[in-house]
Amino acid sequence: MLEVKNITKLYGTQHALDDVSFSVKPGEIVGLLGPNGAGKSTLMKIITCFIPPSKGEVKVCNHSILEEPNEVCRCIGYLPEHNPLYTDMYIPEFLRFTADIYKLKNSRQRVDEMIELTGLTPELGKKIGALSKGYRQRVGLAQAMIHDPEVLILDEPTTGLDPNQLEEIRKVICTAGKSKIVLLSTHIMQEVEAMCSRAIIINHGKTVADGSLAELKHSGHDNLEQIFHKLTKD
Ligand SMILES: Nc1ncnc2c1ncn2[C@@H]1O[C@H](COP(=O)(O)OP(=O)(O)O)[C@@H](O)[C@H]1O
Ligand SMILES: [Mg+2]
Repeated sequence: MLEVKNITKLYGTQHALDDVSFSVKPGEIVGLLGPNGAGKSTLMKIITCFIPPSKGEVKVCNHSILEEPNEVCRCIGYLPEHNPLYTDMYIPEFLRFTADIYKLKNSRQRVDEMIELTGLTPELGKKIGALSKGYRQRVGLAQAMIHDPEVLILDEPTTGLDPNQLEEIRKVICTAGKSKIVLLSTHIMQEVEAMCSRAIIINHGKTVADGSLAELKHSGHDNLEQIFHKLTKD
């Protein structure tokens, strides 16, 4: 279970997040949808213990981000925005390094499983810096999932991919989402329709809609694209 309770984040006097609350159950792939600057990355950094909230609390598998950040990190896999990777490393070398950070006992086996799951086999001879954007995203997903976390937090996992790459990455995320909690951010409605069962729309740091795609569609006569546009225009 992922529980976000009354999260507020102030940067100086700016409310990047203003009293955001929701919870997510296993097996749900939730799209955190909003225009640029809405607060999506800020919320993900708070959930993953990279920055503290100004107010509020998050619980990840019953562990508090404020009191038990180490336990939270063990339960969470995180693909940050812009997917920072060590470009001078080879894929297996990088994944082994990640596995060792988590002190995994079966690290060699987990590296092989992640390479298989994310379809990295054809590119094993290349350094990460030589990979296309699509393959770098696969490496980012492999590092996020290597310790088999219950919760995956993916910040714009599909931004900048070509249509074929998009299809492949969506498949990996949908497979992972069958047994895990997945929260992914995007500013593109089609991404939510392709992968998510539920959307949480935020604008200027506030939640403006939260529901299954069917519920959101029923809330008006518009299609989802129009609903998003209406809710997020200034
Ligand atoms: N470290 C920071 N210092 C000051 N303002 C920030 C910082 N990080 C983000 N912001 C501001 O907070 C708002 C939300 O940013 P962000 O969470 O990155 O939005 P999104 O990911 O939805 O595009 C933006 O107005 C952004 O400029
Ligand atoms: Mg962002």
